[in-house]
Amino acid sequence: MSDPLRPDGLYPMRLQRFLARAGVASRRGSERLMTAGRVRVNGQVVTELGSKVDPARDVVTVDGRPARIEERPRHLMLYKPAGCLTTMSDPHGRPTVADLVPCDEAPGLYPVGRLDLDTTGLLLFTTSGDLGQALLHPSRHVTKHYVALVSGTPDERDLERLRRGVELENEGVSAPARAELLSPGDPLFSVVAPRGPGRTGGGERNAVVGLTIHEGRKHQVKKMMQAVGHKVLRLHRDAFGPLRLTRLVEGAWRDLDEAEVAALEALVSR
Ligand code: URA
Repeated sequence: MSDPLRPDGLYPMRLQRFLARAGVASRRGSERLMTAGRVRVNGQVVTELGSKVDPARDVVTVDGRPARIEERPRHLMLYKPAGCLTTMSDPHGRPTVADLVPCDEAPGLYPVGRLDLDTTGLLLFTTSGDLGQALLHPSRHVTKHYVALVSGTPDERDLERLRRGVELENEGVSAPARAELLSPGDPLFSVVAPRGPGRTGGGERNAVVGLTIHEGRKHQVKKMMQAVGHKVLRLHRDAFGPLRLTRLVEGAWRDLDEAEVAALEALVSR
């Protein structure tokens, strides 16, 4: 976790780790540079492998050339699996998304919004507080696309109610949304219904609904579907603003590419 006293998120760290993060060499390579006497900290040669440096204060050089960590913001997406909490630490030691993303390499990384314990799919992480806050601000209307396996089959009236807005328990009416039934031929259908169309315990047929919303209330999709009489059995998010969940298997993360970062920045600079 980042320390509010160290907004750069950099803590005293082992010299070989510092050198690796500064892009000088791998950790092993950095150790070799150290033992060869090529690394100085504040002018002193340091060969001791356990030595620590404070990136904010110490001057590190390799063969006389300065080494420093460029703290560019880091943005990445995780394909969140079911069964892990959207939090960076859990006092009860349960699995969290922090176990899956590179917190060591990118101190200050935090999730933008949250997905429920049982929800899978795209979860954005960033080290930029400004970007994260801007994306979550309700006025920004950042869209999120979900696919939900639901009990029963919503009819056109249910879908129309979801599109116009439904009364949510103690929370007023949901904002207009896009809602459609997905056919088994839709590539997203199998993400939540891998065994094809099925039936719930009561013998009722399941259906898969695609829902695009821009609000981010707690359990929003589940509550919206419940309001039209269809319980969510599985929920997956495949898009967040301009981002699509691509090139990832469940549980894996990847850095956003340049085009994705540019699209996010364009969205928040509107
Ligand atoms: N809506 C929900 O009900 N749950 C999620 O995890 C995300 C949106």
